[in-house]
Amino acid sequence: MDLAFREFVGDNICAIDLTPMPGIDDLLQPTESIKEAQELAAEAWGADHSFFLINGSTSGNQCMMMTAVNPGDKIAVPRNSHKSMLGGLVMSGAEPVYMQPEVDEELRMDHCVTPETVARTLQQHPDVTAVYLVSPTYYGVAADLASIETLAHGAGKLLLVDEAWGPHFHFHPSLPLSATRAGADLCINSTHKMLSAFSQCAMLHEKGGRVRLDRLASVLKMFLSTSPNLPMIASLDVARKQMATEGEALLSRTIDLARETRARLNDIPGIYCFGEELRGRKGVFALDPTKITVTVRGLGYTGYEASEILRRRHNIQVELADLFNVVALFTIGTTRDAAERLVHAFSEMARDDRDLDMFAPSGILEQRLRRGNFRLPAVPPMRMRPREAFLAATEFVKFRESAGRICAETLTPYPPGIPVIAPGEEITGEIVDYLRLELKAGVRIQGPYHDDLRLVRVVKE
Ligand SMILES: Cc1ncc(COP(=O)(O)O)c(C=O)c1O
Repeated sequence: MDLAFREFVGDNICAIDLTPMPGIDDLLQPTESIKEAQELAAEAWGADHSFFLINGSTSGNQCMMMTAVNPGDKIAVPRNSHKSMLGGLVMSGAEPVYMQPEVDEELRMDHCVTPETVARTLQQHPDVTAVYLVSPTYYGVAADLASIETLAHGAGKLLLVDEAWGPHFHFHPSLPLSATRAGADLCINSTHKMLSAFSQCAMLHEKGGRVRLDRLASVLKMFLSTSPNLPMIASLDVARKQMATEGEALLSRTIDLARETRARLNDIPGIYCFGEELRGRKGVFALDPTKITVTVRGLGYTGYEASEILRRRHNIQVELADLFNVVALFTIGTTRDAAERLVHAFSEMARDDRDLDMFAPSGILEQRLRRGNFRLPAVPPMRMRPREAFLAATEFVKFRESAGRICAETLTPYPPGIPVIAPGEEITGEIVDYLRLELKAGVRIQGPYHDDLRLVRVVKE
């Protein structure tokens, strides 16, 4: 290894970067320390079995789908799932039955799917094999998992939960109910997001014995590297130890700091950080207090601009920015000093002399919102499964002339972060008009190959 790099990262990390061998164990066929570490993780998270992942919850979503559904099976999925869910659909060949999450028109963001939506979906599509949920959302809003578990299992369906943002839930009574406690058959946690494992580290938990373990084991063998990085695996074990032994105390400190900071931010004119008052709104069953969504439109900044200012002027990197908000994560590693800097940064921003034109009644954003254009266009007809569209021959055509074509990419405006169209769906005139207006208003569209969406990838005719 390059000596300067080795000096920088330290000898120990290199000393434990070993290949699978007896005494060290093999992630794909664990019989020794990794087996024990995974058993301890299952005990800590209340699962029957836990598996370490080294390619994030992205691979977790792919593995869940590949385990639970077969080509042609139907699976109920929220429309606002992370893109790795679509990867799972492409790989498994399953057919999505989309569930619309609740859109909060005041905060202009998406919340969770409600039990009512799941019940309706199961009634309209009794042939789905599984219900897949995302909880919590990017903004820290959690779904009513217990009610949805009763509905899914009552109807004989599997319940899969993308709990990428909630690996800490299981370890503190003031946090939302964890997916394992709610009885999900499979769930995933990005242990690297809210806990202390290295980047890319995640876990997949199984509970209840409804999924085939032999299938899951084969899927993991297919998806995980045969050369897993041992420091990453060790960091997963240590993150588990930290939570199992001092999780509640560490999280209590984090929750207190986040609550105090949220209150201080809310005292700054022009700023709003939602909190417990949101509970009970449609799609908001519970809230993760460690995520602070700062709505900055009252300052005359977009979330993107605020995020840039925080980074450049204050050396603060936020987790997410959208048109109206930035999201700050408070984790067990967040210091009081960092919280102070965040409050100071927003206080300064509030003193900036901004003209509020963009959000003024004549501004394009307000016009768009008042005209009700924030309402998402109808979900377009699915003409092909995501897998078929992904694998089909494709071409680029002008977006404004693309109505009637089958889309081969996902187009997701932020906010609210819900795909307007997914691979295999027909581009409608309504969608073309909606997205062109969004682009004009400065909204970022995620997913297309061409960011400016002048061209869109469609299935060749
Ligand atoms: C809801 C959700 N699921 C899955 C993922 C993918 O997680 P990872 O980055 O650990 O691969 C993300 C990433 O942000 C996410 O937000």
